[in-house]
Amino acid sequence: MVSLSDTPTCVLIQGDGIGPEVTPAAVEALDAAVKAAYGGRRAIAWREALAGKRAFDAVGTPLPPETVEAIRTARLALKGPLETPVGGGIRSLNVALRQILDLYACVRPVRYFPGVPAPVTHPERVDVVLFRENTEDVYAGIEWREGTPEALRVIAFLNGEMGCSISEDSGLGVKPMSVHGSKRLVRRAIRYALENGRRSVTLVHKGNIMKFTEGAFREWGYEVAAQEFAERTVTEAELGHVEHAEDLAGVTPPGTVLVKDRIADAMFQEILLRPERYDVLALSNLNGDYLSDAAAAQVGGLGLAPGANIGDEIAVFEATHGTAPDIAGQGLANPGSVILSGAMLLRHLGWPEAADRVETALARVLVSRRVTADLAPGIEGAELLTTAAFGRAVAEEAS
Ligand code: NAI
Repeated sequence: MVSLSDTPTCVLIQGDGIGPEVTPAAVEALDAAVKAAYGGRRAIAWREALAGKRAFDAVGTPLPPETVEAIRTARLALKGPLETPVGGGIRSLNVALRQILDLYACVRPVRYFPGVPAPVTHPERVDVVLFRENTEDVYAGIEWREGTPEALRVIAFLNGEMGCSISEDSGLGVKPMSVHGSKRLVRRAIRYALENGRRSVTLVHKGNIMKFTEGAFREWGYEVAAQEFAERTVTEAELGHVEHAEDLAGVTPPGTVLVKDRIADAMFQEILLRPERYDVLALSNLNGDYLSDAAAAQVGGLGLAPGANIGDEIAVFEATHGTAPDIAGQGLANPGSVILSGAMLLRHLGWPEAADRVETALARVLVSRRVTADLAPGIEGAELLTTAAFGRAVAEEAS
């Protein structure tokens, strides 16, 4: 939660592809909820800014400095999906934004909305919030193409001076994971768990194989818990193994959060087989990328999965799906992901009444089987709504 005015400015980036359809639908729903909750006393002042292909076409760069400055000033943005134009000089716009603004935590709540078709028998058992490290790991962008002088030079160093035996026809990537980067992510996850009455934080890692990166992430995570939250955390080791999250209430002291860890491949099984045992998850970048999409699919897909990229000062809330060029411009897209990201934004502002309204309204629309084209085929008796009509339906329910 941040302390901003009752009329904060929020930068609005509509985005590319389905962006100009889903983002206005979300704004309509959010404005309606805020108005209903606070009767005009509070309102978001949206300030549109360009990024992505639309920016590239308009001003020749996919990430205009004015857009970055606007986000820095407002400290708040809601953004649709972006297409990274080829030849724009940027490999991935989303990664660039995260790095420039130091948005080190990618936060993805995943829970089930009744009525939504899901591929598992008990999607309602999933209620997790993933905190994925956003700036390091193999996504840091440090890599060399096979056969280049740079790759050959690094291979010569590793083989000649570090005792490695890497084949010369290899491409190379570097996986940096720092104490600072790992600890601030875990700190954020633990703080979130404490502030939101969550019961556990699970450190997800592949430390059995990659000991000094993934394994270190686990160690540093436990260090944060022990050094900074000693009074408010307990570990599985301290408790003895806890089999069921439901048992926790009777086991962990009140007001504390259980900190545990799981190896990433086991975690993929756990989220499918025993999701009720997991709550907040803290993950390194690559593991977090995989698991957040898998978890979203488990409860019915990316069209409804919200997300945010947050740093110490700035928070950018965004659709987790891409630009969906296959359905763009046809009113087929589901604006749920941006709507729910907007609800996260309202919570971040400290406006929980409005956030609750948005989430409840969305749940009501879904349960009444009024859905967009991605969900309609899986729901018997569904009423098919366009993207705009879905946004309006949520706005009406929220009013
Ligand atoms: P995508 O998420 O755009 O599409 C994957 C599939 O999901 C498609 O069949 C699409 O129609 C469907 N889909 C996505 N969002 C939907 C929604 N809201 N409602 C209904 N159906 C939806 O992923 P893809 O195809 O890999 O990427 C397309 C473009 O988006 C690429 O240029 C990629 O770089 C960009 N992208 C941008 C992201 C961002 O800005 N955060 C994230 C992921 C991809």
